Amino acid sequence: MTRLWDKGGQLDETVLRYTAGEDHRLDSRLVAYDVRASIAHAAMLHAAGYLSDQDKAAIADGLEALGKEHAAGEWAISLEEEDAHTALERRLTARIGEAGGRVHLGRSRNDQVLAALRLYLKDAAFDLRRAANAVADELDGLNARQGRLPLPGYTHMQPAMPISVGLWACGFVGELRDDAAGLAGAVRRMDRNPLGSGAGFGAPGLNIDREQTRARLGFAEVQAPVTSVQLSRGKAEAGLLFECALLMQDLGRLASDLLLFYTREFSLVRLADEVTTGSSIMPQKRNPDALELVRGAGAAVRGCLLEVLGAPASLPSGYQRDLQRIKAPLFRGIDLTGESCAVICRIVRGLRFVPERCEELASAPDLRAAERANRLVAEQGISFRKAYRKVAKQEE
Ligand code: ARG
Repeated sequence: MTRLWDKGGQLDETVLRYTAGEDHRLDSRLVAYDVRASIAHAAMLHAAGYLSDQDKAAIADGLEALGKEHAAGEWAISLEEEDAHTALERRLTARIGEAGGRVHLGRSRNDQVLAALRLYLKDAAFDLRRAANAVADELDGLNARQGRLPLPGYTHMQPAMPISVGLWACGFVGELRDDAAGLAGAVRRMDRNPLGSGAGFGAPGLNIDREQTRARLGFAEVQAPVTSVQLSRGKAEAGLLFECALLMQDLGRLASDLLLFYTREFSLVRLADEVTTGSSIMPQKRNPDALELVRGAGAAVRGCLLEVLGAPASLPSGYQRDLQRIKAPLFRGIDLTGESCAVICRIVRGLRFVPERCEELASAPDLRAAERANRLVAEQGISFRKAYRKVAKQEE
């Protein structure tokens, strides 16, 4: 087969494998977005007079059909095709002939990949927001079921003050909703139209209407000047992964609490049978593996963020192939975050606090020491430090 940039020479097999890397597999999720962006680009070329009515229709229909067939599993990007962009143009040309070769006028894979990625990222940010809010909703459900049960609050993993299951759960709800808001904020950097910047320097000799593709694709603004587009690759990605890392931090801390509460020694919660796993040797075990894996996934997502931050960090301006390496950790981080939210939802849905243990642990009198000191101040007007010492003496 011939690649888009093929001028007749043979590409070494080892070099092909290395440069295409995982792209042909990773780009699978970009196909639908590349179809959308390419149709918008073709419509703009048509409006500017560079494409006939007939060619524009053939391109749009051909790309729509290819997108549908890809979604139905009828074709996949091959290693030889390198990436989604090459696969689509090649297959389009095979389908509609000469007109397929007209779609790439005024663009490069460099702005094309960013257009597809940003459309994908906007959807991913929306899905992750929903996922974070779904965990918060499950915790609201727990609060409605068992929120009034007493619970010790812990600092340094030592009993500190009496709270309730509701107050404990609502802390996570508040942060998860804040994580969702953070994910919404990360959209700003994705919401810029890269199309028309071409390889990075525009399309000399053509009238490319960047505003038109912006409007068709629903980007908030045109990214200008053209030279900033390639400088920005990786930034929206890192912004999203940063928000993912914060969300994973909250899920990890929730998991840590539940793992502690689930120990035999605490016995504060029960997990539904269907979310625990067994041991291959110890028949009595019901292990909370899924919670441990969520906690562990936080480290992986933080690693993804670092990898994405590292890829463009010391590059000169303009497109460099290094940037392709952003996609693997980006997709991995997004997927892990979404899957972790889904699994936590399942676990919280079947979670039950054990009322007797809640009462027992939360009724230890020393938990009320600070409250007693506060009351002494309120009732007797003595200084807090004096009241503190009085209570400390009683507690000895
Ligand atoms: N797969 C490539 C990437 O993700 C697409 C752009 C390739 N551009 C190029 N000039 N080789 O970066």
